[in-house]
This record gives sequence, C-alpha cells and structure tokens, in this order.
Amino acid sequence: MGQRTQLILLLLFIPYFVRESTAVGDYNGLLSVRGDLMNTPPNWEGSDPCGSNWIGISCTNSRVTSLQLLSMNLSGRLSREIELLSELQTLDLSYNKYLTGPLPPSIGSLKKLVILNLIGCGFSGSIPDTIGNLQQLTTISLNNNGFSGPIPASIGNLSNLNWLDLAVNQLNGPIPVSPGLDNLLHAKHFHLDNNKLSGEISPQLFSSNMILLHLILNGNNLSGSIPETIGSVQTLEVIRFDRNSLSGTLPSNLSNLVNVHELYLSNNKFIGSIPNLTGMSLTYVDMSNNSFTASDMPPWFSTLKSLTTLVMENTQLQGPVPSSIFSLPNLQTLTLRNNNLSGSLDIGTSYSSKLQLVDLQNNSIRHKVDSAGGYNKNLILVDNPICNTSDTTESYCAVSQSNTPPYSTPPNSCLTAQCSSNQISSPNCKCAYPYSGTLVFRAPSFSNLGNFSYYIALQSSLLQCFQNFSLPVDSVSLSNPIKDSTMNLDLSLDVFPSGQDSFNRTGISIIGSLLSGQTFKPPPGFGPYYFLADPYGYYAGISTESKKSLSIGVIIGAVAGGTILLLLLLLAGVYALRQKRRAERASEQLNPFAHWDPNNGSGGIPQLKGARSFSFEELKKYANKFSEANSIGSGGYGKVYRGILPDGQLIAIKRAQTESLQGGVEFKTEIELLSRVHHKNLVSLVGFCFDQGEQMLVYEYVPNGTLMDGLSGKSGIRLDWIRRLKVALGAARGLAYLHELANPPIIHRDIKSTNILLDERLNAKVADFGLSKLMGDAEIGHVTTQVKGTMGYLDPEYYMTQQLTEKSDVYSFGVVLLELITARMPIQRGKYIVRVVQTAMDRTKVLYNLHEILDPAIGLQTSLKGLEKFVDLAMRCVEESGAKRPAMGMVVKEIENIMELAGLNPNAESATTSDSYDVKKENAHHPYSHPYSNEGFEYSGVYPTSKIEPH
Ligand SMILES: *[C@@H]1O[C@H](CO)[C@@H](O)[C@H](O)[C@H]1NC(C)=O
Ligand SMILES: *[C@@H]1O[C@H](CO)[C@@H](O)[C@H](O)[C@H]1NC(C)=O
Repeated sequence: MGQRTQLILLLLFIPYFVRESTAVGDYNGLLSVRGDLMNTPPNWEGSDPCGSNWIGISCTNSRVTSLQLLSMNLSGRLSREIELLSELQTLDLSYNKYLTGPLPPSIGSLKKLVILNLIGCGFSGSIPDTIGNLQQLTTISLNNNGFSGPIPASIGNLSNLNWLDLAVNQLNGPIPVSPGLDNLLHAKHFHLDNNKLSGEISPQLFSSNMILLHLILNGNNLSGSIPETIGSVQTLEVIRFDRNSLSGTLPSNLSNLVNVHELYLSNNKFIGSIPNLTGMSLTYVDMSNNSFTASDMPPWFSTLKSLTTLVMENTQLQGPVPSSIFSLPNLQTLTLRNNNLSGSLDIGTSYSSKLQLVDLQNNSIRHKVDSAGGYNKNLILVDNPICNTSDTTESYCAVSQSNTPPYSTPPNSCLTAQCSSNQISSPNCKCAYPYSGTLVFRAPSFSNLGNFSYYIALQSSLLQCFQNFSLPVDSVSLSNPIKDSTMNLDLSLDVFPSGQDSFNRTGISIIGSLLSGQTFKPPPGFGPYYFLADPYGYYAGISTESKKSLSIGVIIGAVAGGTILLLLLLLAGVYALRQKRRAERASEQLNPFAHWDPNNGSGGIPQLKGARSFSFEELKKYANKFSEANSIGSGGYGKVYRGILPDGQLIAIKRAQTESLQGGVEFKTEIELLSRVHHKNLVSLVGFCFDQGEQMLVYEYVPNGTLMDGLSGKSGIRLDWIRRLKVALGAARGLAYLHELANPPIIHRDIKSTNILLDERLNAKVADFGLSKLMGDAEIGHVTTQVKGTMGYLDPEYYMTQQLTEKSDVYSFGVVLLELITARMPIQRGKYIVRVVQTAMDRTKVLYNLHEILDPAIGLQTSLKGLEKFVDLAMRCVEESGAKRPAMGMVVKEIENIMELAGLNPNAESATTSDSYDVKKENAHHPYSHPYSNEGFEYSGVYPTSKIEPH
C-alpha cells in the first residue's frame, strides 16, 4: 500500500519535471485517441510521441503532422479530441473495420489536413458538414464504410480537392450542387458508386471548367435523364451510370467526349435510339438492360477501333450481326444475349485474334456460316432457332461454355512448400504470413480475364512499387480474378514479407498507405482502383517495437530538471510494482489450474492438449473489458467477444452467462474434448477460463463469419460454385475427421450452416462441439441420448429412434449441401428444403431442372460442372434410412471427384497461392458476425448493402 501511495505522489510530479519535446496539445490529442481505441501500437507509451517514435505518427518540429495506422486491428471510436492535432496533414486509418461510430465533427478543426483516408473501416452516421472547412484537402477516401445521410454540400468548398471517394456506403439524397460538387473544379475523381443516392442529376453538376476524369455513379437510385451538360466535360475518361433508375434518351452530344474509354450505362431505363458514338475512344461499352427503341445493330460499332468489349444484353437489337464487328482488332468479348438478332451469323475468317467470347444466347439466329479456319472458341448460340432445328450436338448449343480459367501467380521455379497452419507459400516458396486483401478495379479496359499477361504486368509493377520504397517485401502474388456483381474486377493480393515470416506494424502501414493513397499506379488498362485489406494479425517484432517504459527524452528532461533523486525513486517504484505483477503472473503460469477448484465437484485437473488456461483478468484485458464494441455475437448461453492476444493473434471468447454455467465436470469434459481435436477444418480451442465464477472458451478467430451469412449475402462474400465446392469439401473433411480419426470418435449433433465458419481464405471450419457426444463408451456405434439438434437439420431417424449415430451428422450435412446450392434456409416459408429439391428435380434435364431454385449468386451464367453429381450426393445424405447414407469419408471422396470433374485440384490448398481457388473474400470491409452459438445472434454494426444483381 505504502509503495503505491508513494508512486501516486511521484506521478503527480511528472508534468512538473518532465520536459516534453512533443507539443502538449498533440500529446493530449494522441492520448485521447489512444484512450478510445484498442490495439494501438504497443510502443504508444511514454510522454514524448515524437521523440520516442510512436509507430504510425510523423512529426515536424515537435508537431504531429501525420497519423497513419492502417490495418492495425484498431477497434473503438475516433476521439473528438483528434482536433488537438492541429498541425495534422495526413490522417489515414484505413482497413480497421472495427473502428466504428461517427466521424467526429471536430475533424473540421484540422485546418492543415491534406489527406483524409478512412477506407474499409466501420464508420457510420453522417459525414459531418465541417468537412467543408478543410480547405487544404486534396484527397478524401471514405469508401467502404457505413456512412449514411446526404453528401454534405460543404464539400463544394474544398477548392483543392482532387480525389473524392465516398463509394460503398449508405449515403442517400441527391448529389449536391450549387453549392456542391459542381464547385470542385480541381477534382478528377468522383467515386460515389454503391450508395443510395437518389433524385435527378442536376445539369449544373457539369461544366466545361471541370477537369474530371472518372465519373463513377453506378449502383445508386439516381433517376431522371443524363443532362446534356455532361458533353462539356471534355476530360472525362471513365463514365459509370449503370445500375440506377435513369431514364429518358441518351444525350446526343455524348460523342463529344472523345477521351472516354469506358462507358457503362447498363441496368437503367433509357429509351429512344442509341446515339452515334463514333469518335469516342471507347474500349469497354455496356448498355445492357435498357428500353431502347428496337433497332438494327448500329453500323458505327464496327468503327470503334479500340473496342475490347461490347455488352448489349436485352437492348432490343434486331437484324443480322454485322460480320465487320468481329474484325475489330482488339475485340475480346461480344455479348449480345437476349435480343432479337436474326439471320445468318458470319464471323468470317478475319476476326480479332483476341476474340475470346461471342455470346448470342436467346436471339433468333437461324444459320451460321462455317468458314474454314472460322472462330471456334467460346461461341454461345443456346436458345436460338439454330439450336432447335439443326444438329444440336454442336458445342455452341451447349449450356455453359464461358468459363474463365482460374489464375494464381505461379511459383518461381521452386518446389512449392507445405506450410504450417496459417502460413502461405510465397511465389518464392517461403512460408510466411502475407498481407492480403482485394484489389478492386472499377473500370478495366479489358474483359478477357483469361489473359494472364495483365496480371503478370500488375504483379511486377506492384513489386516494383514496394521495392522503390525499400519495403521488406519478398514477393507479390495475385489470384482469383473475378468480375463481381457490380462489374468491378476483383483480384486477391498477397504481399509476402522478406527476412521474417511476418511484417511489423510499420511495414504493413506503409504498404497499406501506398495502396490507400493511390501512390501505386497500376499498368494501363486497369483503370481506377481501390484496395481493401484483410485484417492482419501476425505482427512480428512486438518485442522490438514495444515497451520502452521510459524514453530517452523523459530521462534527459528529468536530468535537466535536476531531479535525479525523484527519478530514481520513481524508477524504483515502477520496478517494484512490475516485479510484483511479474511474480503473480509467473505463479499463475506455473500452476495454470490455480483457479481450478477440485472441491466444487469438477474432478481433477483437465487433461488438455495445447489449450491454455486464462485468468479472468487476462481475458478482460484482451477483450477490451468485454466492451460492447468487442461483442460479436450472442446466444442463449451468453455472448461472444472478439479479443486479441499480446502476440497479435485474434481470438473469439465465448462467455457463458450465469444461467448457462455448466457444472464443473461438464465444463471440464467440454474443454478436454475440444482441446484434443486439431484439424484445419475445425475451429480450434486456444484456451479457456475457469476463474472468478466465469466459464469461457477461447477459440481461434475465424474472420469471415458463418456459411449462412455468406449464403444470405449478409457478410458480403461472393460464393460462386467453385467456392461452394471448396466450402463443402472443407466442412466434410472436418466432420470426417471427427467421425473417423478423432479418438474416441465424436458425433457433432448440430451440423448446420451457422456452425460452419469461413476463414480469411474461405476455408470452412466446423464450429461448436457444445453438443458433441463422445463415442468412446457407446457399445455398437450408437449412443442413446436425449434428442438435440436444430429443426430443419435433424435426422428423422434419430428423432424417432433416439439412436444417435454418425449418420445423423451425415443427414444434417446433406441439408447443408442443399443450402449451399439454393441459399435457402432449411425451412423457409413452411417449405422443407429436402422436399423442395426432390419435387423440382428432373434427372433427365440439364442441371436436373433446378434453375429456378438454384441461388443466382452461384453464378448461373458460368459453368456449373458437377452440380448434378453434387445434388445426387446431397440426396443420398438425406436418405430416410441412415444405413443408406454414405459415411463422411465417402462424402469427402465424392466431393473431391466432383471438384476434379470441375477441373480443380481438391488437394491444392497447401501449395497455397498456386492453389487457384484458395479464395478469399472480396469485400473485406464488411463487419462480420461471429456466432459460436447454437442460436441466432445479433450484430450491432452496420451492414453495407451487398447488391446482387440479376444476371
Ligand atoms: C456517326 O457519326 C459519324 C461521325 O460523326 C458519321 O461519319 C457517321 O456517318 C455516323 N453514322 C451514322 C450511322 O449515323
Ligand atoms: C493478352 O494481353 C496482352 C497484353 O495486353 C496482349 O498483348 C495479347 O495480345 C493478349 N493475348 C490475347 C490472346 O488476347
């Protein structure tokens, strides 16, 4: 006690004798920022941020001029006291998706601010009007958050603004003008896509004084017509108006915009004729799904020499397809589905060597001129008279032919390494923890995603960029190119560290900022982009980065103040306190079951394999005092909290509430069971807490939420057919392990889509063995027990006989397989999924005639190779009689066969980045829910809308 009083006394004197080199206001500002956040860098200690080089800040003359904390796993809110950092020029907190709450209006006091980047965080509320006070701003990137409300008109005051990105939020109301965006005469980028903007686009928005390059407004609710004034913005290069409710005729002066390369007008209500666009330097044109007046294909299309892509689905085109269009020298894709094109198709022999897809599905084409050496790559004429009458065995009459070959950076002539759990092999075959995320390209000029030379060029320019900044980057890998539902091109990026197996915070923050701040410029053809990082939880060098308990600056200051004695006393006090803490900690570590009370009926010390015992205080600290901000789910048993261990590992803590505390014996059995089970497709137990009357289970954190959220679109992940196959295989392998390799075997008893979690690479992990039953004592393979499980997944045989076998899990798994292809709940509007599929199914038809009930997001326009076999397998799993259902090992084999049929290597994943479908989520910005529960849960954050457009 006496020691402590002394220490407090001493602390009172600190401001008096320590001469800080960081300005007091800035120091206080940073303290407030730190106080409202969890996971600020470990070296944010001491009283001289500038002098002791706090990670993420830069100073000039003792003033903090830049605060960059990208991908730090920050959670909490941004303090309003940020305003104290009055010399701040750069504020970049991108890629901290648990950084939530509003952007404080006090931000408007940072008069020196030039760059404001908050990409992919969890901010919500409206964008404060005060943002208009920041006269120096050149860059605002607030994209991929949960901002709502209108775009503040005050943004129009920002006369230096070059870059305005507010995309992928919930912003509503009209685009403000006078005052508003029309005042931004230095702006080159308006990226406002995927919000809820509505109303008409004012003619005043555009003027000849503007120097706008990119006008990106897709995915809103804008109405009215495109104003003629757009023709005066001669600098425009990219225009995206697609996916709005725009109507009227297209302005005829559009063709004045001779610099426009990419023009997206699809999914609106445009009427009238298609204007003559001769003279524009168009490469990519999409006008699909509009209500144009029926017309022949305009002949001027064939004069657009740079055209790579023409997409005119459902645009009332009729008459013949002019064969001249195929000889456009750069043409890659011609998609003219759902029109009334007729006559005879003549692709000729002088077609573009780059032509990769001609899709004429559902037109009225009767004949095809077959010239020798004619085009024979991807031609689709399904649903044309030619396929009804003549020999329909022609390949162009087959259902789905367009299939982009998977891509992933190939290894650099080395043997691919087998890496341990979460490490990944770099292209140089070193196992490491890469910094990963998604590059999103909003308007690439190409459409042939199968031409790998684009990715190779991108890969080398990325590597070049990182090397120019002398970053410790070993290599860069790209994989999994897809056009997402908003027609952006998404590419997964992995950046591998050199020297160490992971990056430190500084490295990550700099790499992130090169991408968030657009320092990296992609090669030509990729167009405007943004990057969304996945959370990075593998920081190296914590010991070197962290904890200088007293900085040199403090000591010098103290010496100058002539208070050596006081300082020594202070040091002694701190030392004594630390020693005491250390001793306490050491004794806990020596005896991890110090809190285990064998007298309360819980038996002996648990037999654990690799699971740690945590004290209540420890977990409280790691989970930010179990604050609401850290709560990620809840159920009948209590709540689940996200936390982070001192070594940077993210964890999920399942904390039982008082009513659901188990008896000591049950709790012990559960953790013994969980700790024995180790498989990459099972969520693993990190540890537990049985202390101060609490029961908590600490699991590895699985960042992408549940399979059900993935299927419902809630988590913003796009699950195409290939990814679903991978998920099915992973979950099956996890379950097969429980049944066939765990000793004794384990029956899960509650397999369902909310108990299958997806990790950052969308590997499936089976969760929640809370109801599991050991098979050890069971006599002949079944256990009689009280029936438990979830309606819709429950094996009817088990329900009736109460005899539990592994085949009950197989039944539930079959239901999950049906969910995977239909994205329906097992019981939806009173209809049982098994019956729905049985009823709709016709084995004599393509895809078993299930088109109607398949989930459109599965990618119906792509190849669904193996889907029929998948359905067969699911139906065998849900056979009435358990004896007729396959064992899980067999299910695994069959899914592997289906994957091979679909051209995939089911065992590719440990060869990592060369695993073409080692896929990742493409929307890392979405906040995720994370139930380890048997029941529903609520996530309190904001879900950006994930729009899934009909194809
Ligand atoms: C389209 O415009 C170009 C240039 O303005 C003109 O030469 C051409 O004749 C026009 N074509 C049609 C079909 O109107
Ligand atoms: C692939 O792209 C490169 C670079 O744009 C181009 O030179 C090449 O012709 C393309 N190949 C094909 C087959 O389209």
